[in-house]
Amino acid sequence: MVPFLDLTRQYKRIEEEILSATKRVYEKGRFILGEEVSAFEEEFSHYCGVRYGVGVDSGTDALQLALKAAGIGEGDEVITVANSFIATALAISVTGAKPLFVDIDPETYTMDPNALEHLLRRRKKKGERQKIKAILPVHLYGHPAEMDVIMDIADRYNLVVVEDACQAHGAEYQGRKVVSFGLLSCFSFYPTKNLGGYGDGGMVVTDDKKLFEKLRLLRCYGEKRKYKHILKGGNNRLDEIQAAILRVKLKYLDQWNEERRKKALIYKGMLDGSGVLCPVEKEWAKHVYHLFVIRTKKRNSLQVFLKEKGIETLIHYPIPIHLQKAFRESGYRRGDFPLTEQYAREILSLPFFPEMTESEMKEVTTQIKTFIRAEVTPACQQAGANHES
Ligand SMILES: Cc1ncc(COP(=O)(O)O)c(C=O)c1O
Repeated sequence: MVPFLDLTRQYKRIEEEILSATKRVYEKGRFILGEEVSAFEEEFSHYCGVRYGVGVDSGTDALQLALKAAGIGEGDEVITVANSFIATALAISVTGAKPLFVDIDPETYTMDPNALEHLLRRRKKKGERQKIKAILPVHLYGHPAEMDVIMDIADRYNLVVVEDACQAHGAEYQGRKVVSFGLLSCFSFYPTKNLGGYGDGGMVVTDDKKLFEKLRLLRCYGEKRKYKHILKGGNNRLDEIQAAILRVKLKYLDQWNEERRKKALIYKGMLDGSGVLCPVEKEWAKHVYHLFVIRTKKRNSLQVFLKEKGIETLIHYPIPIHLQKAFRESGYRRGDFPLTEQYAREILSLPFFPEMTESEMKEVTTQIKTFIRAEVTPACQQAGANHES
């Protein structure tokens, strides 16, 4: 049996520290917005190279609060990708704005800057550009989107950039942490993330003091002082317990990311010549491999084969957002984003985590090679090879 992810192995590495951190919270008896959250906000924003951090209850709420803080709302439009977890687009919808999608870069699977520019030019001609207020790139699987080019486009069209770094803790673009480019950047601390708590959690980071202050109001009933509410905020706070746990884990994030990077290289070496396509790390990127996602035209049968051999795999994500029922009203159709749709049929996330053993990796890759050898048509290699339905 090779699990997709085993968080108990990570816990064993840091058990004593976690127990003493949570005990500290119980003993203080303060569970909401206390010293742990403040300290973690400071430590994590510092790690990101950004001045301020606001701890919130999830990555989804980090995104929707960041958009709201930036003034995005009813009638606005925000450009993002359909190749992401649905929360990226849901967060836009929750503000009352509409998500507009663009296709992805064939190598990084993140927002294609050419497609972005193309959409903006097209909308400019039709005179509808005024509704578009922001760009929301996603650093998918831990690989950065091409931030210089996206920021240049945003500057030229006077658009706000909010980064979705929910899968990219520690990732870098040209030697700089990805989240230091946009006006606001958002993280998830969902348990499976590179930095994950023992429950839900998230953070918005920014260099802008006014936005920081607004976010602190938005996450806590819009409360300026006790029972003095100056805007309509919600209850979107990060818990003290989660902050205490995340402070322990933050100390190990770089080490664990390095372990992921080393393991990704090992996987790539083992899969060399196998016929499946491995993730690419662009020369300007530091990939943190939240996921290790391969591609093959025989994805469905490979997944079944691996399952029979006791190897767990997942698909991130099988249905692009624009084709989800929840976004039917947005009017997109099959064929609108060809690469996103093609990749959704071909991608497969292999078991991958820092504590994974080399023998487990060997087992996964040996079984993949056995499957590919048994296939008549090598996956993803021959042009025109039929997809599975
Ligand atoms: C790219 C992306 N955006 C947003 C989210 C939402 O984060 P959360 O699950 O913490 O709400 C996730 C989490 O899975 C994600 O992967």
